[in-house]
Amino acid sequence: MDKFVIKGGNRLTGDIFVSGAKNAAVAIIPAVILSDEPCVLENVPKISDVSIGMKILAEMGASVELIDSTTFRIDATHLNNSAVPYEMARKMRASYYFLGACLGKFRKAMVSMPGGCPLGDRPIDMHLKAFEVLGATHSIDNGIVNVESDHLYGGHIYFEKVSVGATMNAILAAVKADGLTIIENAAREPHIVDLANFLNSMGADIMGAGTDVIKIRGVGYLRGTTYSIVPDQIEAGTYMIAAAATGGDVMVRNVIPKHLESITAKLRKIGVNIEEFDDSVRVWTDKPLVKTNVKTSPHPGFPTDMQPQIATLLTLVHGPSIITENIWDSRFAYVEELRRMGANISVDGKVAVIEGLGSLKGAPVKACDLRAGAALIIAGLAAEGVTEIEDIYHIERGYEDMDKKLRGIGADIEKRYFPGEPVAKSC
Ligand code: UD1
Repeated sequence: MDKFVIKGGNRLTGDIFVSGAKNAAVAIIPAVILSDEPCVLENVPKISDVSIGMKILAEMGASVELIDSTTFRIDATHLNNSAVPYEMARKMRASYYFLGACLGKFRKAMVSMPGGCPLGDRPIDMHLKAFEVLGATHSIDNGIVNVESDHLYGGHIYFEKVSVGATMNAILAAVKADGLTIIENAAREPHIVDLANFLNSMGADIMGAGTDVIKIRGVGYLRGTTYSIVPDQIEAGTYMIAAAATGGDVMVRNVIPKHLESITAKLRKIGVNIEEFDDSVRVWTDKPLVKTNVKTSPHPGFPTDMQPQIATLLTLVHGPSIITENIWDSRFAYVEELRRMGANISVDGKVAVIEGLGSLKGAPVKACDLRAGAALIIAGLAAEGVTEIEDIYHIERGYEDMDKKLRGIGADIEKRYFPGEPVAKSC
């Protein structure tokens, strides 16, 4: 069992480079299926969710060639298989993007139902309703979602709730449908814009991505492209908070500062200094940090995927802060782990109250999910003593070489193999 072992207390200083965005990559990889020519993807993050996406493509019959460590050439033009391998798809929730991509290309798709998840109930009803508007029917048999259509045509999709996944899937299915599709109440996250930019670079006609109304005029042919994936705003935000939590001075490079606005604004409120440059942000502290309240909401609001990390920072300041989680039902599982490290946090439904005590103590803990794992790394870096984090495969789903990158700015973190049973079982 691999664990991260962190000796806390080092002040982080220096430059850290952010990789391509996980949540863009996991949609763009299936989107290559829609292309009628080979594509080259650059700035692809080296994370396990990407490896799974590439393996799915390869098992379906695409040729996937690694050109250098972050560049892939993918030829999916001979692929004629609309069934996504069950065992692979089960491993990654975002495999639901193969539904939209295969439906758009082959007019049918078969993908295993995305399983349960530590974040709570994760339905795909809105994805399926969007496909219906475009003329597809669906059935779910033995955990397999089947969608098909004789003829996909443009339609008017209105989402009752803002959903990143449903917006992306609607775009994927509509891009080659006949006529005009309008998506209202669309999600506006940077990865939505990135998917649209990728498809437009192949000749798609998508307008309005990044606003809540997206218009897609279907096209018959998509040519090949060379496309560089946008930097990961959540990875960047995680390192910004790690810098703040250790009283450090870090230049976070390869970012789009505009994508970080809600994170930057909140950190400034807490007393963190942030200077923005064209493609980097300098983050440092020179005074005691102060409590604040955080409410998560869809972009451009404060991202739910940064909630565990900022909560961890707020355990390190003095006084009470309130966190309200508005996206996921069950995103406080990490609280139990932070309590092992001395945090005083109470949770009632979607609200957590953090009584900041100004410090944390190292302890054996367990990563319950991807962002919870990132939060525990921040906690370990700032804590007194040694923190051992198990179940780090969650972290490796979404952060490229996190230990190596953090060592580059002065962290004492190592990945070690420990034989034997888990030490913590709370989440
Ligand atoms: C994506 C991100 C995830 C992030 C989340 C919110 C990827 C791969 N994952 O997840 O990291 O936490 O956005 O920013 O990009 N919902 C429904 N029905 C649906 C779909 C969603 O009710 O058909 C609800 C969900 O239960 C949730 C809310 O809508 O309460 C938002 O979910 P959504 O934006 O779809 O999240 P994901 O795309 O799965």
